Amino acid sequence: MVDLNSLVHDIAAEMAAREERGTVASYIPELAGVDPAGFGIAVVGADGDTHVAGDGDTLFSIQSVSKVFTLTLALGKVGDALWQRVGREPSGNPFNSIVQLEYEKGIPRNPFINAGAIAVADAILAGHTPKVALGEILRFLHFVSDDESIHIDSAVARSEQATGFRNAALANYLRACGNLRNPVDLVLGVYFHHCAIAMSCRQLAMAGRYLAFGGRHPTAGGKVISSERAKRINALMLTCGHYDGSGDFAFRVGIPAKSGVGGGILAVVPGKASIAVWSPGLDAQGNSVLGSAALELVSRRMNWSIF
Ligand code: DON
Repeated sequence: MVDLNSLVHDIAAEMAAREERGTVASYIPELAGVDPAGFGIAVVGADGDTHVAGDGDTLFSIQSVSKVFTLTLALGKVGDALWQRVGREPSGNPFNSIVQLEYEKGIPRNPFINAGAIAVADAILAGHTPKVALGEILRFLHFVSDDESIHIDSAVARSEQATGFRNAALANYLRACGNLRNPVDLVLGVYFHHCAIAMSCRQLAMAGRYLAFGGRHPTAGGKVISSERAKRINALMLTCGHYDGSGDFAFRVGIPAKSGVGGGILAVVPGKASIAVWSPGLDAQGNSVLGSAALELVSRRMNWSIF
């Protein structure tokens, strides 16, 4: 049996030696300045112990990883009615693609591509103010991670708000198709701010426990969501969590996981572990190069592929 503490330290050492690190996202100006040398990992095992190595306590912008939490909240609010507005199929297109939305009449392929996540943000907003919706998202994260310090990096949110013209195009198109019920600027405000939540690998791995352990909250007791819903969210993470790189990630790693352009990945091994990795260099699909490589090693050494 591999010891998790040695595993995370070995992997952090191996990643520190890698030269191929990808490229830091620059289309959100505030992210462009992040040091590409960072690598962090945190694993929470079934016994509840957390193992952290490298820059596992460094805060980074969780970006699209936040879409797992907003999906959980939106399903809690509107239940399966959400699936009338958002599909459950991999898109096979870049995360910010516009073309597919027109072909498919304003119903985004899945809740993790930007168009889908904007519709999910609309379901959470539901006539409230963005402040109320964002308060709800943060409270949920504080609860599932047992950490009240998690917050929004307002400089990142402002940076994306000033430059997010593609997302504005997607939101306007959704609205034109009747798939946004709230004003476009308010929905985008919620979307940009939840993408700008800052977390460390340790906090993210803690936040993912409810998905790894059948919907249960390991410390507060009781359910965050039903085990059936946890399974379904994990299924979407496997099929859609890495956008047009989801097939390759499933092939290499075989674990449900959600990536973000900040370089973070949350990975969920059902019944066994919640894992977060971070390294800001990305591949062509916008997924962390070292983060994926590290998860591939974890999966292989622990025999944690779900297949
Ligand atoms: O909307 C965007 O483009 C970003 N806020 C989030 C995109 C993202 O993280 C895609 N991930 N790989």
